Amino acid sequence: MCGIMGYVGFRDTTKVILEGLAKHEYRGYDSAGIAVIRDGRIEDLRTVGRVAQLAEKAERSGFRGDIGIGHTRWATHGGVTENNAHPHISSDGRVVLVHNGIIENARDIRAELEACGVKFHTETDTESAVQYLGHVYDGDPKEAIVKLTKRVRGAFALVIIFHDKPNEIWVARKGSPLVVGHAENEGFCASDPTALLEFTHDVWFMDDDEMALIKREGCEFFDFNGDRHEKPTMHLDWDAAMTNRGAYPHFMLKEIHEQPEVVAHTLLGRVAEGEVDLSRELGWTAEDAAKWKKIHFIACGTSHYATIVAQHIMETFGSFEIRTEVASEYRYRNIPAGEDTLAVFVSQSGETADTLHAARLAKSRGARCLVITNVRGSTIHREVGEALITPAGPEIGVAATKTFTAQITILTLLGMYLSKLRGELDAETEKRLVSAMMDIPGKLASILSQEKDIAATARNFADARGFFFIGRGLAYPPALEGALKLKEISYLHAEAYPAGEMKHGPIALLDKELPVVALVPKGELWEKTVSNIEESMARKSPIIAVATEGDEEIGHYTENIIFTPETETELFPFIAVVPLQLFAYYIARQRGCDIDMPRNLAKSVTVE
Ligand code: M6R
Repeated sequence: MCGIMGYVGFRDTTKVILEGLAKHEYRGYDSAGIAVIRDGRIEDLRTVGRVAQLAEKAERSGFRGDIGIGHTRWATHGGVTENNAHPHISSDGRVVLVHNGIIENARDIRAELEACGVKFHTETDTESAVQYLGHVYDGDPKEAIVKLTKRVRGAFALVIIFHDKPNEIWVARKGSPLVVGHAENEGFCASDPTALLEFTHDVWFMDDDEMALIKREGCEFFDFNGDRHEKPTMHLDWDAAMTNRGAYPHFMLKEIHEQPEVVAHTLLGRVAEGEVDLSRELGWTAEDAAKWKKIHFIACGTSHYATIVAQHIMETFGSFEIRTEVASEYRYRNIPAGEDTLAVFVSQSGETADTLHAARLAKSRGARCLVITNVRGSTIHREVGEALITPAGPEIGVAATKTFTAQITILTLLGMYLSKLRGELDAETEKRLVSAMMDIPGKLASILSQEKDIAATARNFADARGFFFIGRGLAYPPALEGALKLKEISYLHAEAYPAGEMKHGPIALLDKELPVVALVPKGELWEKTVSNIEESMARKSPIIAVATEGDEEIGHYTENIIFTPETETELFPFIAVVPLQLFAYYIARQRGCDIDMPRNLAKSVTVE
């Protein structure tokens, strides 16, 4: 969380930094700041609020410099004030830095420095780092940073400028993402590689315990002892245009509309002639698959819900013992994992601290690890190694949409491929599911064509007190995701329950102000779910039904119906989630919420 950016080169530094920060706002947006070197002096500008406010302030004051660093903050230590906003400058005015992460022993460092007479000015943990550097700096930046890395504990991506080195940006990383880029006569660093796409596609992802010097002439890399090493670049296959909103009012809406293409793209090269084939990406053998008795799916938030979809689908044709665990819990529980375990980590960003720590634990216990991520070269990709990449392109809206559908596509393929390797997936099921998956993009497009009707339904419920989402079997996981989307962007309370569980407690909350969104596809659980709809109606709850096209009977229970195309039972989550995303989007829009940057949330959660 927090986004950082640094630039040295021939362009307008303030413009490059501010535009780069705007691309990082999804990572934090409570305050922002920039610092440059001008005429041998460090100058800074900070504000509470968004990068746009910082840009206005910079414009008014003609803020300019030759080399610069910037930050958009998601507060952890210290309130949201201009004083606590980054960059932070040492009391002697010689060093300035921005930081993403948490310095755990900040209090100790502060006490030690205060005892030496150093004056502190903020409530942040970050200030301990800059004051420490100011205290030890004697003209050799590398040496000062080496000392700092030995003194601080915690997670950090630091971008640092020294007042007497106007051509040098220094960076150091442990635990928080940081990427470095270089083009002719200019150098960059950022938390998110998408901020660099406009300038270069060949980047260096910083590793833990690594520092770098970025100059106009090039970049050098060192370990935390200051020893230099060579580092290969990684090529980014994303396009800068993918990070624009186009004609859409919000990234979230654009990303919802990209889903037919994303699913088609995810299937490309992985299915052909009715068969799934992941052998180009996974070097697994039938012996491997036979050895793995257990599958642990580990993730957070939306990615976790994607794994619940996978679990439900895989249970219909495989014999694995499957667990789906929230990464922040997995880490601290004693869940047996070893050579008989395949641990699958799912993370859109590939930077989620909880998921990363859980992966390290599973690896240390001897499990075979696989990651499913949207960001090639992300920390979890580099650490786990074996990966399936979701080709969804950059997702900018904080609420995940297209990456969820990409994840469930790839997870479904993974489940089928594994079961096939074990000889558990019969050819007929494989053919049936592959053919139905190929039809999903068209079906999603047909749901998107109903956007106006879904929007009208959503607007009618924008003043509700909260929502329940219910579903049975494979209708339950999309209910979870639908409720999460609504919570995240509309700030309305929403909970999902397996429909049959309502009567065991939650039903007590039902009344005319608490609508129930019932996912009720045609199939063997239809009648049971309809009974739960009736129970809700008896408590006066308005019902919104997500039902199968042609289901006329559902009209007896409610007039608020979102019809979805028929599909195989296993694939209902694909079909159900898109109208729920639109439903949440239009409720949030009606309520005037900040859809792409909902309060208190950050897209990539790099703290525990
Ligand atoms: O990048 P990750 O998939 O690891 O992120 C996990 C969650 O933080 C993320 O899914 C979060 O729940 C989103 N805001 C969902 O919209």
